[in-house]
Amino acid sequence: MAPLKLIVGNWKMNGLTADSRERAEKLAVAVKGRGNLPFQLILCPPATMVAATAEALRGSVIKCGGQDCHEQSCGAFTGDIAAVMLKDLGCTYVIVGHSERRQHHRETSLQVAAKAKAAHAAGLIAIICVGELDSERSAGQADSVIAGQLKDSIPDTATAENSVIAYEPVWAIGTGKTASSEDIRHMHALIRGKAGKLPILYGGSVKGSNAAEILHIPNVDGVLVGGASLKAEEFLAIAEASGEGK
Ligand code: PGA
Repeated sequence: MAPLKLIVGNWKMNGLTADSRERAEKLAVAVKGRGNLPFQLILCPPATMVAATAEALRGSVIKCGGQDCHEQSCGAFTGDIAAVMLKDLGCTYVIVGHSERRQHHRETSLQVAAKAKAAHAAGLIAIICVGELDSERSAGQADSVIAGQLKDSIPDTATAENSVIAYEPVWAIGTGKTASSEDIRHMHALIRGKAGKLPILYGGSVKGSNAAEILHIPNVDGVLVGGASLKAEEFLAIAEASGEGK
């Protein structure tokens, strides 16, 4: 049987507890009792809503994840959250190195690797994000930027069981622009060559109408979805596209 496509919803800094709970419950009901799903749903709410979301997902096949974690397991780091704390709330996954963290919090690839390592130590699966800027792509540097980010962002503790790579071209995030199928095919093949068996997700303006095409490109093992994951129906439509055309 083909491995399940990983369909990850990154809710970013949106909604309040009641919205999270309602969306999680709606999705749990939608997949309940359905055997042989071709996808694994993973919901990554804002930190304050992780507990309510994990609670709403109790008994469901849908998993919960955090959006970031600190590289240390405890200490004097005001405002930060340790991987072990996410695990404690019922998370299975955590996103690290999202381009919004790299951009707005100046996170480096080496820090991202340390966060992924902390996630592994806590028993979480790290979703390690990489992606080039528009200017880097225009300058013909996309391949070398991604190769460099992969080299520095993946810790030596990473295995195909505890790590996932998410390729998200920064210019495609929240812009409505997606990379062309040819560009995705090219970049995912490059990443496969460097990341071996680690599952590889594509992210950047994925929606119901383009999910089927993207999910059937070789070496695309799933998608990381921002805006379109905030509506349960749209997110589900993306997931259902995993099974189309098979
Ligand atoms: P988007 O975001 O789907 O809204 O483009 C993707 C992401 O940032 O993970």
